[in-house]
Amino acid sequence: MRVLVTGGCGYIGSHTIVELLNSNMEVIVVDNLVNSSLDVLDNIKKITGKKPTFYEYDMCDKEKLRSIFQKEKIDAVIHFAGLKAVSESVSKPLLYYKNNLFSTINLLECMEEFNVYKLVFSSSATVYGNPTHLPVTEDFPLKTTNPYGTTKLMIENILVDLYKANSKFDITILRYFNPIGAHKSGLIGENPKGIPNNLMPYLVNVALGKSEVLNIYGNDYKTIDGTGVRDYIHVCDLAYGHLLALKNSKSGFKIYNLGTGKPTSVLELVKMFEKVNKVPVKYQITNRRAGDIDACYTSPAKAFKELNFTCRYTLSDMCLDSYNFAKKSIDKESR
Ligand code: NAD
Ligand code: UD1
Repeated sequence: MRVLVTGGCGYIGSHTIVELLNSNMEVIVVDNLVNSSLDVLDNIKKITGKKPTFYEYDMCDKEKLRSIFQKEKIDAVIHFAGLKAVSESVSKPLLYYKNNLFSTINLLECMEEFNVYKLVFSSSATVYGNPTHLPVTEDFPLKTTNPYGTTKLMIENILVDLYKANSKFDITILRYFNPIGAHKSGLIGENPKGIPNNLMPYLVNVALGKSEVLNIYGNDYKTIDGTGVRDYIHVCDLAYGHLLALKNSKSGFKIYNLGTGKPTSVLELVKMFEKVNKVPVKYQITNRRAGDIDACYTSPAKAFKELNFTCRYTLSDMCLDSYNFAKKSIDKESR
């Protein structure tokens, strides 16, 4: 199978490419490198011995995107490309709507024109808003709280309508919970530009001394210890989920939550990180972050039943691998 991976130089895309290449699929990547860099492809080659074909194009440029479909034989598309920073989406909504929606519509038009119908789309647990009960299943009502999340929901709705109009499409929507961790080699991982917003990259910065203290946003939530609870999933397990989605014999329109189903609080994650990496992490409790919710974790039952999806990695692996990647990146920078 020849797979076009959009946003393949990014965090989840790069780990997924490793899975695809390791199972002998051919990979073509399109990425404008707005939130990633080219050395990711060299590092993928170090891990797999193979380098994907690469196009440095902005997917909002339809003619450039179309030229890839003209040149390459494509059997399936995994669509990761998009902007993903929640707070930035609040201050720059038009940028988010334009980038995430235009790129997707261009992609879908090209797929239809060139008779490529198999698509896996990166959605997010953010489409569930503040769930009324837990665990979250795929049939929960959908509601978003920020422009980033709204782009995800809008794209999901576009895909629903597209499938209704053209049932040749074979569409899988994957709603990710909280991916953390990195490839065991430490060669690829999450490398956010600027000051990180998400918990694990910030925690890693504190452990490395790049930031002084981790702010824990509130300890008065209705959770086990008052801090926010999430469903952290190792990025390599998430990547494997994409391979299973591509190989799924069930065709049509499908939606799966990808998470472990195991709730973890901020304090539990910090304690696990300190224990397995044998490093102290200075933290302080601060006010809640606007828009945050008490708890969010999935029921992995549907993905298990239909995709045979199970997670191989533990929270301890996630902490070890995130830190290992960050330490290796620092070593490289200082050389
Ligand atoms: P990432 O930023 O690391 O990767 C996205 C890639 O898309 C980047 O390499 C970026 O350069 C590229 N890109 C963005 N706009 C583009 C455009 N117009 N044309 C070409 N390339 C473009 O993000 P990630 O964490 O790997 O996330 C991948 C996808 O999964 C995103 O759609 C994101 O919204 C979704 N998602 C991520 C998370 C998470 O916690 N990381 C959670 C839920 C959903
Ligand atoms: C955030 C986004 C969500 C996105 C997801 C993955 C918000 C409101 N939501 O979710 O849309 O899909 O990232 O990219 O931004 N925390 C701290 N200190 C920190 C950072 C986080 O205590 O410095 C806490 C948060 O309050 C939360 C938990 O850690 O309880 C996880 O936060 P984060 O990693 O940002 O992910 P989400 O809030 O789940």
